[in-house]
Amino acid sequence: MSTIEIIKRRSSCRTYSDKGIDQDKLDELRKFLADNTDSPFGSRIRFQLLDFTTETEASEIKAPGTYGVIKGAKYFIAGAVGNRPKSMEDYGYCMEKNILKATAMELGTCWLGGTFNRSGFGEKMGLASEELLPAISPVGYSGNKRSIIDKLFRLSAGSDKRKSWHELFFKGNIGTPLQQDSSSPYEKPLECVRIGPSASNKQPWRIIKEGGNLHFCLIRTPGYNAVFGDIKMQNIDMGIAMCHFELSARELGLNGDWQVSDPLMQTGDTEYIVSWIGSE
Ligand SMILES: Cc1cc2nc3c(=O)[nH]c(=O)nc-3n(C[C@H](O)[C@H](O)[C@H](O)COP(=O)(O)O)c2cc1C
Repeated sequence: MSTIEIIKRRSSCRTYSDKGIDQDKLDELRKFLADNTDSPFGSRIRFQLLDFTTETEASEIKAPGTYGVIKGAKYFIAGAVGNRPKSMEDYGYCMEKNILKATAMELGTCWLGGTFNRSGFGEKMGLASEELLPAISPVGYSGNKRSIIDKLFRLSAGSDKRKSWHELFFKGNIGTPLQQDSSSPYEKPLECVRIGPSASNKQPWRIIKEGGNLHFCLIRTPGYNAVFGDIKMQNIDMGIAMCHFELSARELGLNGDWQVSDPLMQTGDTEYIVSWIGSE
Protein backbone atom coordinates (compact mmCIF):
# COMPACT_ATOMS: atom_id res chain seq x y z
CA MET A 1 0.00 0.00 0.00
CA SER A 2 1.31 3.47 -0.82
CA THR A 3 1.87 6.00 1.97
CA ILE A 4 -0.81 8.22 0.44
CA GLU A 5 -3.28 5.33 0.71
CA ILE A 6 -2.24 4.72 4.32
CA ILE A 7 -2.75 8.41 5.16
CA LYS A 8 -6.24 8.20 3.63
CA ARG A 9 -7.03 5.01 5.51
CA ARG A 10 -6.02 6.22 9.02
CA SER A 11 -8.70 7.35 11.43
CA SER A 12 -8.83 7.40 15.22
CA CYS A 13 -9.79 4.11 16.85
CA ARG A 14 -10.95 4.23 20.48
CA THR A 15 -12.43 0.71 20.78
CA TYR A 16 -10.15 -2.32 20.50
CA SER A 17 -10.85 -6.02 20.07
CA ASP A 18 -9.49 -8.81 22.29
CA LYS A 19 -7.42 -10.20 19.43
CA GLY A 20 -3.75 -10.26 20.43
CA ILE A 21 -0.98 -8.91 18.22
CA ASP A 22 1.33 -11.64 16.87
CA GLN A 23 4.88 -11.66 18.22
CA ASP A 24 6.43 -10.99 14.80
CA LYS A 25 4.23 -7.92 14.34
CA LEU A 26 5.17 -6.68 17.81
CA ASP A 27 8.84 -7.17 16.96
CA GLU A 28 8.42 -5.31 13.67
CA LEU A 29 6.69 -2.41 15.40
CA ARG A 30 9.28 -2.28 18.21
CA LYS A 31 12.08 -2.18 15.63
CA PHE A 32 10.35 0.63 13.76
CA LEU A 33 9.99 2.65 16.97
CA ALA A 34 13.64 2.11 17.86
CA ASP A 35 14.82 3.18 14.39
CA ASN A 36 12.53 6.24 14.22
CA THR A 37 15.12 8.78 15.35
CA ASP A 38 15.36 11.25 12.44
CA SER A 39 13.46 14.41 13.30
CA PRO A 40 13.36 17.56 11.14
CA PHE A 41 14.63 19.91 13.87
CA GLY A 42 17.03 17.45 15.49
CA SER A 43 15.22 16.55 18.74
CA ARG A 44 16.11 13.18 20.19
CA ILE A 45 12.98 11.15 20.86
CA ARG A 46 12.81 7.71 22.42
CA PHE A 47 9.70 5.71 21.67
CA GLN A 48 8.55 2.64 23.54
CA LEU A 49 5.80 0.10 23.06
CA LEU A 50 4.19 -0.23 26.48
CA ASP A 51 2.70 -3.64 27.14
CA PHE A 52 -0.25 -4.03 29.49
CA THR A 53 -1.06 -7.63 28.62
CA THR A 54 0.15 -9.33 31.78
CA GLU A 55 -2.34 -9.83 34.54
CA THR A 56 -0.90 -7.41 37.07
CA GLU A 57 -0.38 -4.80 34.41
CA ALA A 58 -3.93 -5.23 33.13
CA SER A 59 -5.06 -3.90 36.49
CA GLU A 60 -2.38 -1.19 36.39
CA ILE A 61 -3.84 0.06 33.12
CA LYS A 62 -6.76 1.40 35.10
CA ALA A 63 -4.30 3.52 37.06
CA PRO A 64 -2.32 5.09 34.17
CA GLY A 65 -5.57 4.97 32.26
CA THR A 66 -7.31 6.94 29.57
CA TYR A 67 -10.37 8.01 31.59
CA GLY A 68 -12.60 5.52 29.79
CA VAL A 69 -11.97 7.08 26.38
CA ILE A 70 -10.05 4.08 25.06
CA LYS A 71 -11.61 0.64 25.45
CA GLY A 72 -9.78 -2.69 25.32
CA ALA A 73 -6.28 -1.52 24.29
CA LYS A 74 -3.40 -3.53 25.75
CA TYR A 75 -0.50 -1.79 24.02
CA PHE A 76 0.40 1.88 23.86
CA ILE A 77 3.08 3.73 21.93
CA ALA A 78 4.61 6.46 24.06
CA GLY A 79 7.60 8.72 23.53
CA ALA A 80 9.81 11.04 25.52
CA VAL A 81 11.51 14.17 24.21
CA GLY A 82 13.67 16.89 25.74
CA ASN A 83 12.12 20.33 26.15
CA ARG A 84 13.79 22.46 23.46
CA PRO A 85 12.66 24.72 20.59
CA LYS A 86 10.53 22.88 18.01
CA SER A 87 10.54 19.61 20.00
CA MET A 88 6.74 19.49 19.72
CA GLU A 89 6.90 19.66 15.91
CA ASP A 90 9.57 16.94 15.97
CA TYR A 91 7.41 14.80 18.21
CA GLY A 92 4.36 15.23 15.97
CA TYR A 93 6.39 14.36 12.88
CA CYS A 94 8.01 11.21 14.32
CA MET A 95 4.98 9.95 16.23
CA GLU A 96 2.82 10.27 13.12
CA LYS A 97 5.30 8.01 11.32
CA ASN A 98 4.62 5.42 14.06
CA ILE A 99 0.89 5.89 13.57
CA LEU A 100 1.19 5.37 9.81
CA LYS A 101 3.39 2.30 10.33
CA ALA A 102 0.74 0.79 12.63
CA THR A 103 -1.99 1.69 10.10
CA ALA A 104 -0.02 -0.06 7.36
CA MET A 105 0.09 -3.12 9.65
CA GLU A 106 -3.73 -2.92 9.87
CA LEU A 107 -3.61 -1.87 13.51
CA GLY A 108 -5.80 0.87 14.96
CA THR A 109 -4.38 3.93 16.72
CA CYS A 110 -5.57 7.17 18.32
CA TRP A 111 -3.47 10.20 19.19
CA LEU A 112 -4.02 11.05 22.87
CA GLY A 113 -2.65 14.34 24.10
CA GLY A 114 -5.25 15.18 26.70
CA THR A 115 -7.36 12.22 27.79
CA PHE A 116 -4.69 10.08 29.41
CA ASN A 117 -2.96 10.02 32.76
CA ARG A 118 0.34 11.64 31.82
CA SER A 119 2.09 10.99 35.12
CA GLY A 120 1.09 7.30 35.18
CA PHE A 121 2.40 6.74 31.66
CA GLY A 122 5.46 8.89 32.44
CA GLU A 123 6.31 6.59 35.31
CA LYS A 124 5.97 3.56 33.07
CA MET A 125 8.33 5.24 30.57
CA GLY A 126 10.88 6.11 33.27
CA LEU A 127 10.56 9.76 32.25
CA ALA A 128 13.60 11.85 33.25
CA SER A 129 13.07 15.26 34.83
CA GLU A 130 14.12 17.12 31.66
CA GLU A 131 11.89 15.02 29.41
CA LEU A 132 8.32 15.58 28.26
CA LEU A 133 5.74 12.95 27.31
CA PRO A 134 3.67 14.92 24.79
CA ALA A 135 1.18 12.32 23.59
CA ILE A 136 0.62 8.58 23.32
CA SER A 137 -1.44 6.21 21.20
CA PRO A 138 -3.09 2.88 21.89
CA VAL A 139 -2.34 0.28 19.28
CA GLY A 140 -4.24 -2.90 18.51
CA TYR A 141 -6.92 -4.42 16.33
CA SER A 142 -10.02 -2.32 15.98
CA GLY A 143 -13.18 -3.53 17.76
CA ASN A 144 -16.29 -4.13 15.69
CA LYS A 145 -18.38 -1.41 17.22
CA ARG A 146 -17.49 2.09 18.32
CA SER A 147 -18.22 2.76 22.02
CA ILE A 148 -20.64 5.55 22.95
CA ILE A 149 -17.74 7.67 24.26
CA ASP A 150 -15.93 7.18 20.94
CA LYS A 151 -19.05 8.26 19.01
CA LEU A 152 -19.50 11.29 21.28
CA PHE A 153 -15.86 12.26 20.83
CA ARG A 154 -16.10 12.06 17.07
CA LEU A 155 -19.31 14.04 17.09
CA SER A 156 -18.06 16.83 19.36
CA ALA A 157 -14.76 17.20 17.47
CA GLY A 158 -16.52 16.90 14.08
CA SER A 159 -13.90 14.22 13.31
CA ASP A 160 -15.42 13.23 9.98
CA LYS A 161 -15.16 16.76 8.63
CA ARG A 162 -12.23 18.85 7.47
CA LYS A 163 -11.87 22.52 6.55
CA SER A 164 -11.97 23.18 2.83
CA TRP A 165 -8.95 23.99 0.68
CA HIS A 166 -9.60 27.70 0.54
CA GLU A 167 -9.55 27.93 4.36
CA LEU A 168 -6.18 26.16 4.67
CA PHE A 169 -4.04 26.83 1.60
CA PHE A 170 -2.98 30.13 0.06
CA LYS A 171 -1.00 31.50 -2.82
CA GLY A 172 1.64 34.18 -2.18
CA ASN A 173 -0.06 35.59 0.89
CA ILE A 174 -2.58 34.55 3.49
CA GLY A 175 -5.37 36.55 1.85
CA THR A 176 -5.32 34.71 -1.48
CA PRO A 177 -6.81 31.18 -1.47
CA LEU A 178 -5.00 28.52 -3.47
CA GLN A 179 -7.29 26.80 -5.94
CA GLN A 180 -7.32 23.01 -5.81
CA ASP A 181 -5.81 21.95 -9.10
CA SER A 182 -5.33 18.26 -9.84
CA SER A 183 -2.61 19.07 -12.38
CA SER A 184 -0.42 20.71 -9.71
CA PRO A 185 2.32 18.42 -8.33
CA TYR A 186 1.56 19.62 -4.79
CA GLU A 187 -2.14 18.86 -4.92
CA LYS A 188 -1.82 15.41 -3.33
CA PRO A 189 0.70 16.35 -0.58
CA LEU A 190 -1.55 19.27 0.42
CA GLU A 191 -4.59 17.01 0.44
CA CYS A 192 -2.64 14.63 2.71
CA VAL A 193 -2.12 17.53 5.14
CA ARG A 194 -5.80 18.46 4.97
CA ILE A 195 -7.09 14.99 5.88
CA GLY A 196 -4.60 14.52 8.74
CA PRO A 197 -5.44 14.32 12.44
CA SER A 198 -5.16 17.30 14.77
CA ALA A 199 -5.95 17.91 18.42
CA SER A 200 -9.74 18.33 18.80
CA ASN A 201 -9.76 18.39 14.99
CA LYS A 202 -8.91 22.12 15.08
CA GLN A 203 -6.81 21.89 11.89
CA PRO A 204 -4.58 24.86 12.80
CA TRP A 205 -2.27 24.46 9.78
CA ARG A 206 -2.12 27.14 7.11
CA ILE A 207 0.16 26.79 4.10
CA ILE A 208 1.25 29.55 1.76
CA LYS A 209 2.60 28.40 -1.59
CA GLU A 210 5.17 30.47 -3.42
CA GLY A 211 6.20 28.51 -6.51
CA GLY A 212 7.93 25.33 -5.27
CA ASN A 213 8.27 26.67 -1.72
CA LEU A 214 5.55 26.05 0.82
CA HIS A 215 5.47 28.01 4.04
CA PHE A 216 3.86 26.22 6.97
CA CYS A 217 2.12 28.49 9.47
CA LEU A 218 0.03 27.97 12.58
CA ILE A 219 -3.15 29.71 13.60
CA ARG A 220 -3.60 29.02 17.28
CA THR A 221 -7.02 28.33 18.71
CA PRO A 222 -7.56 30.92 21.46
CA GLY A 223 -7.12 29.47 24.95
CA TYR A 224 -5.60 26.20 23.72
CA ASN A 225 -1.91 27.04 24.07
CA ALA A 226 -1.62 27.19 27.84
CA VAL A 227 -3.70 24.13 28.76
CA PHE A 228 -0.85 21.57 28.95
CA GLY A 229 2.10 23.76 29.99
CA ASP A 230 5.18 23.07 27.86
CA ILE A 231 3.28 20.54 25.78
CA LYS A 232 1.82 22.46 22.86
CA MET A 233 -0.81 20.41 21.07
CA GLN A 234 -1.03 22.65 18.04
CA ASN A 235 2.73 22.56 17.47
CA ILE A 236 2.41 18.77 17.52
CA ASP A 237 -0.30 19.20 14.85
CA MET A 238 2.23 21.13 12.73
CA GLY A 239 4.67 18.21 12.96
CA ILE A 240 1.92 15.84 11.79
CA ALA A 241 1.27 18.13 8.81
CA MET A 242 5.00 18.13 7.98
CA CYS A 243 5.07 14.33 8.13
CA HIS A 244 2.08 13.91 5.82
CA PHE A 245 3.40 16.51 3.40
CA GLU A 246 6.95 15.19 3.20
CA LEU A 247 6.12 11.49 2.96
CA SER A 248 3.53 12.01 0.23
CA ALA A 249 5.71 14.50 -1.69
CA ARG A 250 8.70 12.15 -1.63
CA GLU A 251 6.49 9.25 -2.70
CA LEU A 252 5.49 11.34 -5.74
CA GLY A 253 9.14 12.08 -6.52
CA LEU A 254 8.98 15.68 -5.30
CA ASN A 255 12.20 16.39 -3.45
CA GLY A 256 12.92 19.19 -1.07
CA ASP A 257 14.06 20.08 2.41
CA TRP A 258 12.78 21.77 5.51
CA GLN A 259 14.21 25.22 6.21
CA VAL A 260 13.33 27.88 8.71
CA SER A 261 13.59 30.91 6.46
CA ASP A 262 11.15 33.21 8.25
CA PRO A 263 9.82 34.87 5.10
CA LEU A 264 7.96 37.50 7.15
CA MET A 265 4.74 35.53 7.07
CA GLN A 266 3.83 36.65 10.55
CA THR A 267 0.61 38.44 9.78
CA GLY A 268 -2.11 38.85 12.35
CA ASP A 269 -2.69 35.54 14.11
CA THR A 270 -0.49 33.53 11.75
CA GLU A 271 2.68 32.12 13.30
CA TYR A 272 5.39 31.01 10.88
CA ILE A 273 6.89 27.56 11.61
CA VAL A 274 8.91 26.22 8.67
CA SER A 275 9.15 26.11 4.87
CA TRP A 276 9.41 23.21 2.47
CA ILE A 277 11.94 24.31 -0.11
CA GLY A 278 11.22 22.27 -3.23
CA SER A 279 14.25 21.31 -5.27
CA GLU A 280 12.44 20.97 -8.62
C1 LIG B 1 -2.03 16.09 19.02
C2 LIG B 1 -3.34 15.37 19.13
C3 LIG B 1 -3.92 15.14 20.36
C4 LIG B 1 -5.15 14.44 20.47
N1 LIG B 1 -5.65 14.18 21.71
C5 LIG B 1 -6.76 13.41 21.82
C6 LIG B 1 -7.22 13.03 23.12
O1 LIG B 1 -6.67 13.41 24.14
N2 LIG B 1 -8.31 12.20 23.18
C7 LIG B 1 -8.94 11.74 22.06
O2 LIG B 1 -9.88 10.96 22.20
N3 LIG B 1 -8.53 12.11 20.81
C8 LIG B 1 -7.46 12.92 20.67
N4 LIG B 1 -6.98 13.25 19.42
C9 LIG B 1 -7.66 12.73 18.21
C10 LIG B 1 -8.44 13.82 17.45
O3 LIG B 1 -9.62 14.16 18.15
C11 LIG B 1 -8.73 13.31 16.03
O4 LIG B 1 -7.52 13.09 15.37
C12 LIG B 1 -9.58 14.27 15.21
O5 LIG B 1 -10.86 14.43 15.80
C13 LIG B 1 -9.77 13.79 13.77
O6 LIG B 1 -10.35 12.50 13.73
P1 LIG B 1 -9.62 11.29 12.99
O7 LIG B 1 -8.28 11.08 13.71
O8 LIG B 1 -10.53 10.11 13.17
O9 LIG B 1 -9.40 11.66 11.57
C14 LIG B 1 -5.80 13.99 19.30
C15 LIG B 1 -5.22 14.24 18.05
C16 LIG B 1 -4.00 14.90 17.95
C17 LIG B 1 -3.38 15.10 16.62
